Amino acid sequence: MKVVKNISEIQRICLDYKRAGKIIGLVPTMGYLHEGHLSLVREAKKRCDTVIVSIFVNPIQFGKGEDYDIYPRDLGRDIELLTEEKADILFAPSVREMYPEGYSTFVEVEGEITSKMCGASRPGHFRGVTTVVSKLFNICLPDYAFFGQKDAQQVTIIEKMARELNFPIEIVRVPIVREEDGLAMSSRNVYLAPEERREALVLYQSLQHALKLIKSGERDVPRIKREMEEMIKSRPRAEIDYIEIVRAEDLAYIDKIEGRVLVALAVRIGKTRLIDNLLVEV
Ligand code: PAJ
Repeated sequence: MKVVKNISEIQRICLDYKRAGKIIGLVPTMGYLHEGHLSLVREAKKRCDTVIVSIFVNPIQFGKGEDYDIYPRDLGRDIELLTEEKADILFAPSVREMYPEGYSTFVEVEGEITSKMCGASRPGHFRGVTTVVSKLFNICLPDYAFFGQKDAQQVTIIEKMARELNFPIEIVRVPIVREEDGLAMSSRNVYLAPEERREALVLYQSLQHALKLIKSGERDVPRIKREMEEMIKSRPRAEIDYIEIVRAEDLAYIDKIEGRVLVALAVRIGKTRLIDNLLVEV
């Protein structure tokens, strides 16, 4: 696998691939890779001739007081994992390379889709995400870009951005990969102390509870949210950031379960903020 740190170099390589008629797949990540990330790489390998994985801990999507400085990083291990998966190129630019002195161009999807849920507790977060993803699209010129359902709001926003800015790129959603006990894999799971790790399971359990209610015919959104809330509140280290049940397509609020619905939540376990979600169709 080739490791490239330079924008001009990778852009030249990608232009050559394009001219040779190759299908390019891009998997954007912030590194510290786990099976969730690797499932995106495998999906990309299936569909594309050339798979580029980017690793860049993007400072502009972290708020003040968030975990940018301590975000886990291990490029050596990531390179080993990606070599095993037979990714073709790792693009790992520096912050200066992506945001040189005086940088001031941003891409922002406006409206409720970015201001609610994770956008409410992390103002500016999605602006940072859409800006870096747009840059990566222009740098790597992918035909397909792969994102996890784990970050449901993120992928919904990126799909809207790609559509509205006419990026000629197909966004592919990949299902959530979980630990054996159900905890959604996340680079941030390493922050959890053993007791917190046990309590973190409540996110998945509350989603399973919601699923059970919906399957048994419950359609009342406030009632489902209330039951999830009660379950989470019974864990001493868990503090709810949000629980939302929205229309999957555009994350609009709903009162009744109907069609494709996203049940999504963010919960702080100790100092660690975790997210998870479930897609249901009735
Ligand atoms: P990161 O958190 O590293 O995630 C990279 C990609 O992996 C995202 O598309 C995310 O949804 C996916 N992913 C993470 N955990 C997953 C899991 N358990 N199952 C399936 N997919 C999973 O998301 C980001 O980085 C950044 O915001 C980024 C898009 C790279 C922009 O900086």
